[in-house]
Amino acid sequence: MAYETLIVEIEDYVAVIRLNRPDAMNALNSQLMSELAQALGEADRNDKVRCIVLTGSEKAFAAGADIKEMAEQSFVDMFGGDFFTKDSEAIMRTRKPVIAAVAGYALGGGCELAMMCDFIICADNAKFGQPEINLGVVAGLGGTQRLTRFVGKSKAMEMHLTGRFMDAAEAERSGLVSRVVPVKTLMEEAMKAAARIAEKSALTAMAVKEAVNRSYETTLREGILFERRLFHAMFATEDQKEGMAAFLEKRTAQFRDR
Ligand code: HXC
Repeated sequence: MAYETLIVEIEDYVAVIRLNRPDAMNALNSQLMSELAQALGEADRNDKVRCIVLTGSEKAFAAGADIKEMAEQSFVDMFGGDFFTKDSEAIMRTRKPVIAAVAGYALGGGCELAMMCDFIICADNAKFGQPEINLGVVAGLGGTQRLTRFVGKSKAMEMHLTGRFMDAAEAERSGLVSRVVPVKTLMEEAMKAAARIAEKSALTAMAVKEAVNRSYETTLREGILFERRLFHAMFATEDQKEGMAAFLEKRTAQFRDR
């Protein structure tokens, strides 16, 4: 499927989705969000995909929602319409692992989109921020909730109230990103991580993702029970037999997502 605001490439069980609005710092408009929801849905359904990498350009992952598109909207337009709601929910429903490879600006909705992914690897030139307050609005794609869970209340509150940007070192120090790499090697490092994931069973990876995400939704006791039942359930898969047999036979496992 061809997209106007994305470039999608699939190779060796990894789908790379690149946000591609270079003239607007990859600002998220309705078309991009709709295409992204569609592309992630397609990757999720494609047996030839086991991991997804979402990225932008060296200058910008995404500089937020498109301000030109939002500027003249009314409350009725926004509330009565569907400004990104269905598409962002579709993005969040992606079951396969999604790595955000972030270089340059990840601001507002761009920072929120990166936080919707399963983990973030960023380049040393990355800048994260929630500057919506400068525009007279608050975050609208989960930024007040996710940033607070990831970096704690004090830093999240400061970022949202002042609109200041966080650099890559601070993002790593505060737990927003898993790792910082030189900008020139960002894609190489993200692809290495994706390739490692793509060697595993897609079923097991989806279960891992469900279990970790559950920790944000429930109590510790319920989360641990959920994990234990998932662990039990994996014994119904051929991939569990293959993974354990391969270990005992000292060979590499060949997972078939069954
Ligand atoms: C529309 C944008 C844009 C945006 C940049 N551009 N960000 N267009 N929406 N969010 C456009 C600029 O208008 C400009 O177009 C071109 O991209 C290059 O940007 P410059 O500002 O000239 O570049 P620079 O001086 O390097 O500054 C980069 C920047 C700055 C720091 C990223 O552009 C900026 O502050 N952008 C806005 C960031 C922001 O406030 N994001 C939050 C949006 S609200 P022209 O045509 O002039 O060359 C949000 C809410 C989400 O995200 C909730 C959704 C439900």
